[in-house]
Amino acid sequence: MAKLIDVAQMRKTFRVRERSARFSGSARRERIVSSLRDRPAARKRTRFFSAVDGIRLAVDSGEILGVLGPNGAGKTTLIKMLCGLLRPDGGEGTVLGYDVCREPSRIRSKVSLVAPTADIGTDNNLTVRENLEFWAAVYGIPRKQQRRRIDTLLELVQLKEKESYWPMGISAGMRQRLAIARSLLAENELVFLDEPTVKLDPDGARRIRDFIRRINQENGVTVLLTTHLMHEAEELCSRIIVLDEGKIVAEGSASELKQLVGREQIIELFASGLSVGAEDQIRSLPAVLDADMSIWDGAVGEGRVLVKTAKIERTTEHLLSWARRNGIRVHGVRSGEPNLEDVFFDITGRGLTA
Ligand SMILES: Nc1ncnc2c1ncn2[C@@H]1O[C@H](COP(=O)(O)OP(=O)(O)OP(=O)(O)O)[C@@H](O)[C@H]1O
Ligand SMILES: [Mg+2]
Repeated sequence: MAKLIDVAQMRKTFRVRERSARFSGSARRERIVSSLRDRPAARKRTRFFSAVDGIRLAVDSGEILGVLGPNGAGKTTLIKMLCGLLRPDGGEGTVLGYDVCREPSRIRSKVSLVAPTADIGTDNNLTVRENLEFWAAVYGIPRKQQRRRIDTLLELVQLKEKESYWPMGISAGMRQRLAIARSLLAENELVFLDEPTVKLDPDGARRIRDFIRRINQENGVTVLLTTHLMHEAEELCSRIIVLDEGKIVAEGSASELKQLVGREQIIELFASGLSVGAEDQIRSLPAVLDADMSIWDGAVGEGRVLVKTAKIERTTEHLLSWARRNGIRVHGVRSGEPNLEDVFFDITGRGLTA
């Protein structure tokens, strides 16, 4: 099968200028006073930050590939490089057969991108339909084909009834669907969707997921989508890469990824009163195979513990009595098969959204 994306060693380093730490807090007041006295202003230091760090990626025609990772993992930076919007600092390979470093403008003209700021590119002085007509003209779609293509897309994104509305008169989810329709006008075979359901309500998000599936199945569009919602990746993607701090930390189908955690069952405990060493105590409870803990509020010891067990009922019973004995307040317990969040936690020791 043809590879639409085939890249290796993709890297992007940002140069960040930041104020020196010694000027924070009360030192900052001194700096203001000293600058009033005509002294030199605060010193800034330059730091290099590796946002994407040596990524290899191959995407087959017809796939829906999910890029899953927490905030700041490098998902958008990776997408921008693959779309030809951001020059990589290193790497090689092709997108749609064009060189990812040397032919970014050719790539840009052949792919579609829906960014989280989907409203950019939507003209509020044009109706929903007029917006699509405008972009059809920009894409150079022959007049005769425009009408049919716009009608099909309005049906696809379920906006036919709203075609004469102004964009401000439709909901945020509908505007997101308008942005997706706009990006599909060009009938590109490769579409990048950067967090397509961000800020949408559950119903709006479900509709977006439904038609991502439809454009893939009915129109044969290859999709690369980013998300930090594990259920979204699980539901839509034939393959998922998990990104953390600019690197791929795991890759496979949702079920392959879950097998990384093992065939064991999972108990996830949300609690306060947790302290260092608690995970060692949990590891020694009956039937426990492993335990990982992350505390996000050190002052009250609030966090979560992920416990792998061979016997879920026995461990749950012992875990809860251990919590009672140690004055730990349990806020919630989830148990069952591992999900992608557990996979991420298992690999990195952190949650996807924490
Ligand atoms: N133009 C820039 N200059 C400096 N740093 C940047 C720039 N763009 C991104 N970064 C940094 O690179 C890292 C990766 O950012 P990126 O936007 O790719 O993450 P992301 O995975 O898309 O996160 P999110 O889920 O929040 O959208 C972040 O730490 C970010 O601060
Ligand atoms: Mg992003």
